Amino acid sequence: MPRTWATWGGDLHLEVGGRVRSSLERGLREAIRDGRLRPGTRLPSSRALAADLGIARNSAADAYAQLIAEGWLASRQGAGTWVAEHRVSPPAEPAADQLPMAMPRYDLRPGVPDLSMFPRTAWVAALRRALAAAPLDVMGYTDPRGLQQLRSALSDYLSRARGVAIAPERIVICSGFADGLGLVCEVLRRRGAKSLAVEAYGHALHRNIAEAARLRVHTTPVDAGGAVIDASEPAGALLVTPAHQFPLGVALHPERRRRAIEWAVSSNAVIIEDDYDGEFRYDRQAVGAMQALAPDHIVYAGTVSKTLAPGLRLAWLVLPNGLVDDVIAVKTAVHHLSSSLDQLALAEFITSGAYDRHVRRTRLAYRRRRDRLVAALHRHAPAYRITGIAAGLHALIQLPPGESEGALVARALSRRLAVQGLNSFRLGAQECAPALVVGYARPPEHAFTAALARLTALLTER
Ligand SMILES: Cc1ncc(COP(=O)(O)O)c(C=O)c1O
Repeated sequence: MPRTWATWGGDLHLEVGGRVRSSLERGLREAIRDGRLRPGTRLPSSRALAADLGIARNSAADAYAQLIAEGWLASRQGAGTWVAEHRVSPPAEPAADQLPMAMPRYDLRPGVPDLSMFPRTAWVAALRRALAAAPLDVMGYTDPRGLQQLRSALSDYLSRARGVAIAPERIVICSGFADGLGLVCEVLRRRGAKSLAVEAYGHALHRNIAEAARLRVHTTPVDAGGAVIDASEPAGALLVTPAHQFPLGVALHPERRRRAIEWAVSSNAVIIEDDYDGEFRYDRQAVGAMQALAPDHIVYAGTVSKTLAPGLRLAWLVLPNGLVDDVIAVKTAVHHLSSSLDQLALAEFITSGAYDRHVRRTRLAYRRRRDRLVAALHRHAPAYRITGIAAGLHALIQLPPGESEGALVARALSRRLAVQGLNSFRLGAQECAPALVVGYARPPEHAFTAALARLTALLTER
């Protein structure tokens, strides 16, 4: 009996975007060519496929018709559609030493939101409205701080949603947090800073950016209360993730917040507050930005990389008064502006309320996924514990004593599941207990169930 799509039981990772019909055709051709869809496999009806992928039924029916015409699929009235026989000759087996690493089919690495949730229609509508009303000068070389329309929209949004103490003149738009961090590091070095302290676990990219600005980087330990900030910290600046430490997933303890601010004020240092996923808190109202407690010592940094998409490369800095001119001077010197069209669209997206709606929608979706992850571990793999607060787009799964993180990550990869070990985020000498950093937001909704099942199977197999 031919296996149906349902009994086949895998996930095809058909991701349709752009021109829906042709991307669906391409996805199906590839699935047949690389053997994920075998000859004889019954496909779902065009209606079911369309519902599964969230596309119009006509697009699914047209894609089927095209592939039937090309001979990839076959169909008969009343018998449905299936993958045609003998269409593809299997590729020659590569020599064992030339076997490529299997591409992961299930991806639970942290760092990226569900890109299929990007609000394409609302974004295009915002861009169209903003462009229709935009003055001509936005098409020229614009203010190095970023467009006034976006800074003004952000000023309202950030004070309302994140409690940031703000004025539009203190906002600088940049191309992602990475760009903003580079700018601030450059300014700090020009002003005499020699080093930057970063959390002992974090992004190597951020350390590299600071080093590229010729700052010495050293690490400050992290524990269940977040970054351990020492009053005698010698660096002139500190980079922290207070709302949700990346990757440990804990919040900076209120006492530590206080101490960090005392340190910055008494030693005239600068704290860079990386609020990369502050909108996503599930168990309580999000804790407001630390910046409001010492706006003259804290650079607040936010980004759309988690709320919308990293590909937009849009982020913002809210600067202490004393740094504004220097940051603008560096930005002017390198003439590094973000696209006016993207800035206008985001400004309109925020002021129209679409950004709030989108954040609410994604927050609910990610919260459900986190709940499912917690429930699945509790039920199937209770020896694995999630630590950290209910927030953000990733969770830390502690391994039971004696289990090797590296071996588990390698075993996952051999099962075509990509996960990342905590150790890959280690920046200093401090060593935390082995754990996985699981990005539950990354797979599109239709692939999450299969990815979660693959993860729990991995954790329970012996
Ligand atoms: C800790 C942390 N900060 C900031 C960012 C955002 O970086 P960017 O705005 O450059 O995409 C990320 C994204 O992965 C992150 O994990």
